[in-house]
Amino acid sequence: MASRAVVTGVGHYLPERIVPNAEFEATLDTSDEWIRTRSGIERRHFAAKDETTSDLATRAAEAALKDAGLTGEDLDAIVLATSTADLTFPSAATMVQARLGMTKGFAFDVQAVCAGFVYALSNANALILSGQAKRVLVIGAETFSRIMDWTDRSTCVLFGDGAGALVLEALNGNGTADDRGILSTDLNSDGRYKDLLYVDGGVSTQSTGHLRMQGNQVFRHAVDKLAKTAETALDKAGLNSGDVDWIVPHQANIRIIQGTAKKMGLPMENVVVTVQDHGNTSAASIPLALSVGKERGQIKPGDLIVTEAIGGGLAWGAVVLRW
Ligand code: ACO
Repeated sequence: MASRAVVTGVGHYLPERIVPNAEFEATLDTSDEWIRTRSGIERRHFAAKDETTSDLATRAAEAALKDAGLTGEDLDAIVLATSTADLTFPSAATMVQARLGMTKGFAFDVQAVCAGFVYALSNANALILSGQAKRVLVIGAETFSRIMDWTDRSTCVLFGDGAGALVLEALNGNGTADDRGILSTDLNSDGRYKDLLYVDGGVSTQSTGHLRMQGNQVFRHAVDKLAKTAETALDKAGLNSGDVDWIVPHQANIRIIQGTAKKMGLPMENVVVTVQDHGNTSAASIPLALSVGKERGQIKPGDLIVTEAIGGGLAWGAVVLRW
């Protein structure tokens, strides 16, 4: 017998406002055609002026809890991945905790940019395996529209806002790769690559700042590092890419998603793709894709899923789980 962190609920929330690529043509030297062919993005959602990351996170959390048949009071912990929290402190996670009516346990944010959800899942898994928590809500939520430089066509057309959440519960398995739940995780970072993707402001530099990215340099790292971390995570679980039902990748760019799948020897039929509708929602993109993938009828109980992501840091990683 072995304890496993099993997904028992999933949900997401997207802000009402949908912005098609064509909207950028009015203010930037860009086109729907360029954005579509270079990134695969067709539209994205932007939060309303008074809508914050914890608002999006709470809506996604409520949907995931409903799916699991639980309430906030049933939770032991909340781990929230974000780089765009409402306030410098307290954490967005504690704000969500209060709004869910959860008065015990603990809540904290994880910041690993686009790899944030993979890091959060890995942390939540460790909490469950070490017996520190039995039920953990894992959320990815972002309002990247707040850190866009609207004059920089090479970045502002790529990102969107949204939130997704999973409920993880400690359930017993056999300790084999047939078990439901998280089977392995693989986390990496290399701070030498800071300048490829960062925000040029923060508390200690006394400004909010804007996202800066050397897109083609990040691209160069992405496919190799993503395929390698996915294969490492599969190997740790005693599996290989032939066992995978779904790759649920970070949704940054369709060409990165296609390149990674190809490198892993898997066809696009085995990949959940939402980048066309959401853009890059950073830490929210994987739970959004898991939730939409389930809604579409793609992801079914028992399916073997590999999630993988890379982002600012650089930070990257993968999680293998059986749904
Ligand atoms: N419209 C029209 N032209 C544009 C636009 C635009 N919106 N943006 C850039 N261009 C131009 C550039 O200025 C450049 O012109 P030049 O050749 O005259 O200099 C040309 O298009 C090509 O630019 P590249 O940057 O080389 O284009 P590329 O094919 O690499 O695509 C992109 C750019 C989409 C950003 C791609 O590099 C990418 O997706 N990179 C990875 C992004 C990513 O995965 N980030 C990680 C996660 S994000 C996170 O952690 C927060």
